[in-house]
Amino acid sequence: MRHHAHGSVADALVRRGVSRREFLKFCTIVAGTLALPPSVVPRIAKAVEEAKKPTLVWLEYQDCAGCSESLLRAARPTVAEIVLDVLSVDYHETIMAPSGGQAEKSLEEAIAAGGHLVVVEGSIPVADGGIYCTIGGKSALDLLEEATETAAAVIAVGNCACFGGIPAAVPNPTNARGVRDLVSDVPVLNIPGCPLNVDNLTGTVVYYLTFGEFPATDQLARPLFAFGQRIHDNCERRGHFDAGEFVQEWGDEGHRQGWCLYQMGCKGPVTFHNCPEQRWNEGVSWPVGSGHGCIGCSEPAFWERPLYEPVAIHEFAPPDTYPPVVEVHREPLEPLAAGALGAAVGIGVGAVATAAVAKARGGKEDSDASES
Ligand code: SF4
Ligand code: F3S
Repeated sequence: MRHHAHGSVADALVRRGVSRREFLKFCTIVAGTLALPPSVVPRIAKAVEEAKKPTLVWLEYQDCAGCSESLLRAARPTVAEIVLDVLSVDYHETIMAPSGGQAEKSLEEAIAAGGHLVVVEGSIPVADGGIYCTIGGKSALDLLEEATETAAAVIAVGNCACFGGIPAAVPNPTNARGVRDLVSDVPVLNIPGCPLNVDNLTGTVVYYLTFGEFPATDQLARPLFAFGQRIHDNCERRGHFDAGEFVQEWGDEGHRQGWCLYQMGCKGPVTFHNCPEQRWNEGVSWPVGSGHGCIGCSEPAFWERPLYEPVAIHEFAPPDTYPPVVEVHREPLEPLAAGALGAAVGIGVGAVATAAVAKARGGKEDSDASES
């Protein structure tokens, strides 16, 4: 792995006045996000402290800037500081102080040095030669090609950069595409979400610094630590689903009691993301926790699904590392039947998913445990 030298992360931490205790707390939190055992914390701490700060170039194309907001709103102060120290964000079109030629110079220098990480936010329009998104006279398409040519790796953040997002909604007038459709000569990792959860970006970068590679992924290039499990299998309302207790109307008694939102259109049964455990805003809450169904924002084309219609419970999109799921029911479900079936399918699929994730992580955990 090539790194553009920017001094070590340890130096940056000392300069920022981050105590050893705060730093180890950060490493423990990240190990938790990555679902790695506590025994790996010393290795993470050593790797992050000794790592040369990789240059990071953040490119923003067709989007709402929500993922940049997510980065800036990383709430835990020490974590946010450390993220900004671990990553030398040399170029970020939205938040960098320089503009015009000076800004472009930073980008050119990073590209010339090579070995940088490219984070892409927003989709890339390819219709009509890419004219629908141009920056400094160049199309997003050309800029992406230039920035990734000498890069070590690319991380696509948010649904737009991963799968096209809202700009790709039918009829997709700009022919908006995700990064993986356009970049194939360097590794591309997807961290979808609308917006991304910045904890998952932090976890990915720390993993990269610690192990020198990206974490294991599913067939959509999403890291398994964050997208290996179905929301429905970890949801705090799952007991109500299994009991056939469904919210029927916003504000009804079931809604007040925190019952399952399946019949209000919750997409948790077909969505893979770590929202129930990781949560948002310093772990305060998450969409289902705050009373609205999941809209499936980490899945391709989530915007095409009718928001308030229940998903077909047999509609699975599992990573291809999982065995095929047998379709068990084709008729519309009554609440109680949906609950019983959900329990049966959920337990089965949950067990398979857990086994697959454990298997994917097993080798790494074992070797970490023996090394530390
Ligand atoms: Fe939770 Fe939604 Fe599944 Fe109900 S359908 S248990 S609210 S994820
Ligand atoms: Fe998105 Fe659903 Fe999580 S809407 S933020 S994947 S709960």
